[in-house]
Amino acid sequence: MDVLFSVDPAAPGPLHRRLYDSVRTAILTGRLRSGDRLPATRALATQLSLSRATVSAAYDQLRAEGYLRGHHGSGTYVAPDLPEETLQSGMLPEAPRAERHVPLSAWGKRIAADEYGALLRSTNDGDLPFDFRPHRVAAERFPWDDWSGAVHRALARSPDRFLAYPPSAGYPPLLDAVAAHVARYRAVSCEPDQVVMVSGTQQGLNLLATLVLDRGDRVAVEDPGYPAARLALEAHGLCIEHVPIDRDGMRVDVLAEHTPQRLVHVTPSHQHPTGATMSLSRRLALLDLAERTGCIIFEDDYDSEFRYEGRPIESLQGLDRSGLVVYAGTFSKSILPGLRMGYLVLPRPLVTPFVTAKSLWDSGTPMLEQAALAEFLHSGDFERHIRRMRRLYQNRRDALLGVLAIFGERVQVGEHQGGLNLLLTVRAPISDIELAARAAVRGIALRPASPYYLHPPEYPTFLLGFGGVREEQIVEGMVRLRAILDELPGSQ
Ligand SMILES: Cc1ncc(COP(=O)(O)O)c(C=O)c1O
Repeated sequence: MDVLFSVDPAAPGPLHRRLYDSVRTAILTGRLRSGDRLPATRALATQLSLSRATVSAAYDQLRAEGYLRGHHGSGTYVAPDLPEETLQSGMLPEAPRAERHVPLSAWGKRIAADEYGALLRSTNDGDLPFDFRPHRVAAERFPWDDWSGAVHRALARSPDRFLAYPPSAGYPPLLDAVAAHVARYRAVSCEPDQVVMVSGTQQGLNLLATLVLDRGDRVAVEDPGYPAARLALEAHGLCIEHVPIDRDGMRVDVLAEHTPQRLVHVTPSHQHPTGATMSLSRRLALLDLAERTGCIIFEDDYDSEFRYEGRPIESLQGLDRSGLVVYAGTFSKSILPGLRMGYLVLPRPLVTPFVTAKSLWDSGTPMLEQAALAEFLHSGDFERHIRRMRRLYQNRRDALLGVLAIFGERVQVGEHQGGLNLLLTVRAPISDIELAARAAVRGIALRPASPYYLHPPEYPTFLLGFGGVREEQIVEGMVRLRAILDELPGSQ
């Protein structure tokens, strides 16, 4: 047969790979057909001025991948069972790929259509100099030396551990450290065997919903509330009740009018996004309601390490006497969100099924990160880091509160006793989305708060993050924002 392939001497890569490509292309474009015989290795080697070993290596690889059949001596053929029509229609990698519509599941459609889903997708987009998006931590102040020390110590202890799958509940020394931490700082009542490590609160909530709720079950969320929790629960096909928030947190009296609920998602220590703290009487009323109705309380305690005034509020879980509170903590604010490390403290009967769910979901949380985190906690580095960050964030918050005075009566500032964000309402004749778009043009990233509300607030409102913005940038960013407001017709 005519030689259909060649080896370009100037092309990069090993010779056998170039010959392999040439033969494969001939088959995929239909120039060689099923059953065609290929030249013997010796003959082809002579024709192409290659060594026989080079030709054999190319043939062996093509045989291993199913393009060729036959053996040295008995002849080498193109595999007899290749579908010719498919090959004629162009199988080469460089051939254009069709963008076929792939139908989404009901769950997929729900998350794709959600307004907040779009915001989540853009979370890491952009790199604006004045980044007031919420939940940003001061990544530039992270103690990398302490962290790499923790990683090294973790590796030195017994590297063999990292070769196996992690224990599904988590790395035992980390479970011990987390249990001690939440008992001491959050008055959570638990033993290490009730702690399960998860890839952030978000995974904990999704897994719990999968485990204890069925489609159509009724669940309650705060309004305004954390859209990622609401969206996750909605996507599970649950019926959502939006319970209003006031200065004392969730209106448990309103919730009581809409019982029974199977689960309620709450942020009692620092309501997200208003910053309210749930009063003791509401906490007791909520626990009482749960006890009467069997409703599970998902206590999302996402940032209580950072409280700047008064004593940190103790957890709801610590007051629970009926075993219905699932306490969720995270290292996303106290260390870094990219670590993807959180934990649940579960009522005992839920531990075993939850651990099974976790292992089926992702076969465990990455081991090296867990071991390093355990070292970071046990060494005291974590506590030192929290203390430093608390001071830093307090200074940033104070800088923000100070510069907000330049807006005078035009803004209203929400609760700001803790956390890394505050709600800012601007009395201006413009929507929050439009104002955020104008701000972005001037280098200011703002997070519109309307997706956090069932009914958008009357005036544009933003969840303003100060954690990841240096003090000078805070001041400059707000001065720029004021200039934008000054340009709006009728805003003075
Ligand atoms: C209310 C609330 N819960 C939890 C989290 C943290 O979630 P994760 O641990 O999945 O990063 C956040 C962070 O933004 C939050 O605002």
